[in-house]
Amino acid sequence: MNRINGHTSLLGLLGYPVAHTLSPLIHNSLAEYYGDDLVYLPFEVKEEDLENAVKGAFSLGIRGLNCTVPHKSAVTEYLERIDPMAEAIGAVNTLVRGEKGYIGYNTDHLGLLEAMRREDIPVEGEKVLILGAGGAARAVAAMCASQHAGRIVIANRSLEKAEALAEMAGKLGDVPAEGVRFTGLYEKLEGAEWLAIQCTSVGLAPDDDGCILTGENKRVFSLIHTGVDLIYKPAETVFLRQLRQDGKKTMNGARMLLYQGVIAYEMWKGIWNGQISTEQKILDEIFANLDKES
Ligand code: ATR
Repeated sequence: MNRINGHTSLLGLLGYPVAHTLSPLIHNSLAEYYGDDLVYLPFEVKEEDLENAVKGAFSLGIRGLNCTVPHKSAVTEYLERIDPMAEAIGAVNTLVRGEKGYIGYNTDHLGLLEAMRREDIPVEGEKVLILGAGGAARAVAAMCASQHAGRIVIANRSLEKAEALAEMAGKLGDVPAEGVRFTGLYEKLEGAEWLAIQCTSVGLAPDDDGCILTGENKRVFSLIHTGVDLIYKPAETVFLRQLRQDGKKTMNGARMLLYQGVIAYEMWKGIWNGQISTEQKILDEIFANLDKES
């Protein structure tokens, strides 16, 4: 705190609630590593105050912002411009200063891609099963489409949301994409091997014993060669445990969380070039601290 002076810039997070966020740990560690004179703070902002908060932050010279629940979609109204991927996803989580206002990006899809790359989980040409069609699934579907997945099937409890998301993904990546219900899922997928990305909230702590594939749908496990779960709490969901016990490759959402933050920081710093350039040693150090805190 003693290092704050007349030159210190501010970064922050707009959300409601924000008290439990891990983002300050990520960004303040990065500022320290880079020797940047920056502080990152969470701001609890109610929906009715979002416009004032974004415009006021720009006027105050706040260097960059993250946006989280419930503002990721509403914030798009108050920006100078939105990156095309963020626009397709319909959600912005990172604001970078432009000329007259902030420019909105989505680093969730980039963070997942980077995490999967580093775990040697390719998307190009793969048959991808996306479980869920909520906000997180939208970023995943856009990532898979833009990375030229071979085929995308989106399974969701509410069929309309799955179909709408499949339409977006299909258009974005010119890839065959289809929205389906969970009923009869095995029959729709059999005959192929799938990379499955679990994007629902089922299995999230404290309801650790939940799993999106139950009953008849347990047969779907045998069709999955690699499983990714966006959940990082618990570190191993029932979904991932089943796959690991079957000898399949698995990855949880912890690295995605870290990398979406690192990418945002590299954007604010003006060094983002499509791949994370922050040293691996630093990423691992922050990762270990996140693990302790979460
Ligand atoms: P997030 O931003 O984390 O994606 P969300 O937008 O609320 O959160 O999406 C939650 C996802 O989990 C949705 O796909 C939701 O399915 P519906 O669209 O049908 O609501 C899914 N989900 C949540 N609880 C579920 C449950 N008990 N069974 C099946 N799907 C569930």
